[in-house]
Amino acid sequence: MDLFVDLHIGDSKEILKKIPDNSVDLIFTSPPYADRRKDTYGGISSEKYVEWFLPISEQLLRVLKPTGTFVLNIKELTVNGERHTYVIKLILEMRKQGWLWTEEFIWHKKNSYPGKWPNRFRDAWERLLQFNKNRKFNMFQERVMVQVGDWAKNRLRNLSETDKKRDNLNVGSGFGKNISNWVDRNLVYPDNVLYLATECGNKNHSAAFPDALPEWFIKLFTNPGEVVMDPFMGPGTTVVVAKRMDRSAIGIEIVPEYLKIVKSKLEPYKNTLFEKREANEFVSQFEQNSYF
Ligand SMILES: C[S@@+](CC[C@H](N)C(=O)[O-])C[C@H]1O[C@@H](n2cnc3c(N)ncnc32)[C@H](O)[C@@H]1O
Repeated sequence: MDLFVDLHIGDSKEILKKIPDNSVDLIFTSPPYADRRKDTYGGISSEKYVEWFLPISEQLLRVLKPTGTFVLNIKELTVNGERHTYVIKLILEMRKQGWLWTEEFIWHKKNSYPGKWPNRFRDAWERLLQFNKNRKFNMFQERVMVQVGDWAKNRLRNLSETDKKRDNLNVGSGFGKNISNWVDRNLVYPDNVLYLATECGNKNHSAAFPDALPEWFIKLFTNPGEVVMDPFMGPGTTVVVAKRMDRSAIGIEIVPEYLKIVKSKLEPYKNTLFEKREANEFVSQFEQNSYF
């Protein structure tokens, strides 16, 4: 398996143009949030967010394989006491661009900061919007199955007559959900809420997500040897996790300082790479910002 890690410094909008059509299996990213973190890497205004993002998503659509998936971690802010609508507008515009909005996962941040606001409670979740090019895409659901919780065991012990039949009415898919099929099973498919703690303090970045977040989606949507991309790399969580999971990785980041952090995190994997590639190939690629 010939793996690579390509790290690019620059604006995603431009760098993406160098990446071939239909070459990436999974794009997993958390872009800069509107009006946020101006001190660390500049912010895009909520009003201009969609206009700023669309040329990038156009390139992402081009580089993603037809069987691939794009997962976008994003959350709208409140502006003047109400939620801004730029994420909703972005979804609608991306659909016009040709994306299918397949699913929305929720990342429930188990350790969100406590606080008090006059008109709402603290933000404890973010969206993970799933987009695809086709209705059929690679998804390896068995890999993310979970243990049946005790609550589920109780639920399954007392099944109603409706539960024992196919519940086509409620599902409408033709498959139904015959709950009795799940009695006595230890593993079930997960739901679309991921309960994970944030991990900012130890990541040298103000907006890092936990390793477990890209890990779950990489497992679900790619095989070893396939290509994972993060066009807003930051301290490189996606890239490093992809490498650890034997996937090739492409990272793009506009702030050069993050490159040093990502390279140091990739250091432990250098030796395994030398076994797979010639050292001089490594050096020449390295000089062109390609790490392995
Ligand atoms: C939310 S952070 C990503 C953090 C990352 N997901 C992690 O946990 O490791 C977004 C990153 O995008 C970078 N960025 C902002 N605009 C960019 C652009 N136009 N092209 C490439 N990177 C950009 C920022 O410098 C920042 O590091």
